[in-house]
Amino acid sequence: MTNNDDIITVSGLNVSYGESKVLFDVSMNVRPGQVVACVGRNGAGKTTLLKSIAGFLKPTSGAISSGTTNLIGMVAYVIAGLGIKYIPQDKKVFSDLTVRENLELGSYATKDYNWDQVTDYFPKLKQLMDHKAGYLSGGERQMLMIGRAILGSPKLLLVDEPTEGLAPSIVMHLKDVFRELSKKMALVIVEQNLPLVCAIANKVYALKEGRIMGELTDRESIRPEMCEKYL
Ligand SMILES: Nc1ncnc2c1ncn2[C@@H]1O[C@H](COP(=O)(O)OP(=O)(O)OP(=O)(O)O)[C@@H](O)[C@H]1O
Ligand SMILES: [Mg+2]
Repeated sequence: MTNNDDIITVSGLNVSYGESKVLFDVSMNVRPGQVVACVGRNGAGKTTLLKSIAGFLKPTSGAISSGTTNLIGMVAYVIAGLGIKYIPQDKKVFSDLTVRENLELGSYATKDYNWDQVTDYFPKLKQLMDHKAGYLSGGERQMLMIGRAILGSPKLLLVDEPTEGLAPSIVMHLKDVFRELSKKMALVIVEQNLPLVCAIANKVYALKEGRIMGELTDRESIRPEMCEKYL
């Protein structure tokens, strides 16, 4: 059922890569102001779900909408233009471009440059603005990826495994960043770091072998051991 206030409503989503079916009848929704986590083991289909919402994959069936707007069939840059920004798992940046140039690419289509928002959240990026992105550490790259997405003041961030492979101190910093960002925009965070997502999420979907096995919606039940039961 589509709720017109939802930032994202996914219903009965099925996605395949060629003959191989990866998502089975997935339904989820994101309300304004929510931090929604999607947890699951390697290969569960988390990235496939985010890429489908962001318009990078064409589902075989099911519905994805934002408010009253149907997103199925829209190309990725049009969805990004609606303020739905996908931050990929691979942390790929343009190594030969500067940090500033990398950041600007995120707003190329919309010409919406909220520089203060980027430098308020990531003061470190301000110092690195004229450095080549290829020299950044893993943590700095992740800041750049998030910075690029928030330069255009999105309404929803789809963040794919942001803390994968990062040092604990950077993970703590990102946790604070996500908490702060959630005051301004909705977040969908795909993560295997259960303590992290449980500390910041209002709702957790547990995905296993392409199916939603559980949904945790109240503060008391959003705990790593509760998530584990479904994985
Ligand atoms: N381009 C592709 N072509 C064929 N199969 C794919 C492709 N991408 C992913 N898959 C398969 O789809 C399934 C789900 O993959 P997906 O990347 O969505 O999982 P994930 O939950 O994001 O995993 P991870 O935690 O490792 O990132 C896996 O079995 C994977 O091998
Ligand atoms: Mg993935």
